[in-house]
Amino acid sequence: MAKPLSPQPPPGAAADWTVPQNWAAYTPEDHATWDILFARQMRQLPGRVTDEFLAGVTTLGMDQPGIPDFARLSQRLIRATGWQVVAVPGLVPDAVFFEHLAHRRFVAGRFIRRRDQLDYLAEPDVFHDVFGHVPLLADPVYADYLQAYGQGGLRARGLGVLAHLARLYWYTVEFGLVKSAQGLRLFGAGIVSSHGESAFALDSPSPNRLGFDLARVMRTPYRIDDYQQVYFVINSFADLLEKTQNTDFAPLYAQLAGAADIAIDAILPDDAVLTRGTQAYAHGGA
Ligand code: PHE
Ligand code: FE
Repeated sequence: MAKPLSPQPPPGAAADWTVPQNWAAYTPEDHATWDILFARQMRQLPGRVTDEFLAGVTTLGMDQPGIPDFARLSQRLIRATGWQVVAVPGLVPDAVFFEHLAHRRFVAGRFIRRRDQLDYLAEPDVFHDVFGHVPLLADPVYADYLQAYGQGGLRARGLGVLAHLARLYWYTVEFGLVKSAQGLRLFGAGIVSSHGESAFALDSPSPNRLGFDLARVMRTPYRIDDYQQVYFVINSFADLLEKTQNTDFAPLYAQLAGAADIAIDAILPDDAVLTRGTQAYAHGGA
């Protein structure tokens, strides 16, 4: 059976699905919404987020008011690590997404959430995509990891085994924690761009916090509708890169194809347990 063709880009988008950011079209209200979200997270994150994140905010000049202009942001990012930020109209097909990452282009939504959506929205907006994801791209090791992930995505797609790899993205790029000499730190974009989860992920007794293990992560489903029930903790970006870039995932995919998923709140005998969560929040408590 032939593989279905990728859907065509929407009208107004280029063949690679990018669109102009149209920075001049943002209203004062749009910029003010960014400023509110930015100020709130920059109060919340010191002492919680990994140092590389705050360094990236400064290096990239993101501490200026207003929604960043992707062209100016990219100038700084290219100088730091060779990455760029490009605008897309919304979610893009997997192949398009991986192709951009593999070429050091981060695809970002250009719209910003409404004032009544400061705490939660289902689709990633420019605050999640740019504030959440871009600062760490100024870090050379993290930058290499995300490119390697894009290359791995293209390969996994060819093998027809994307679901397991998507969990690696979820539990690192979106919801990862990292050890530091001062204790656990946040680095996942889904956490750092969320006021609620940037407290919950570190402070709540509810979720499990487990040491990162590649095969284990790929067997663990995730939640898209609420705070995570399990967080995985990497030792460092260098360690994460080492454990993924130079590992051939093909035998792992073959092995995982026959393995059952692990329940989202399970703790296994081999897990390195940092926190054994109560799961009270997931069960309707605090
Ligand atoms: N080494 C992986 C493979 O063989 C590619 C990869 C690298 C995937 C980094 C994720 C992260 O497919
Ligand atoms: Fe994201």
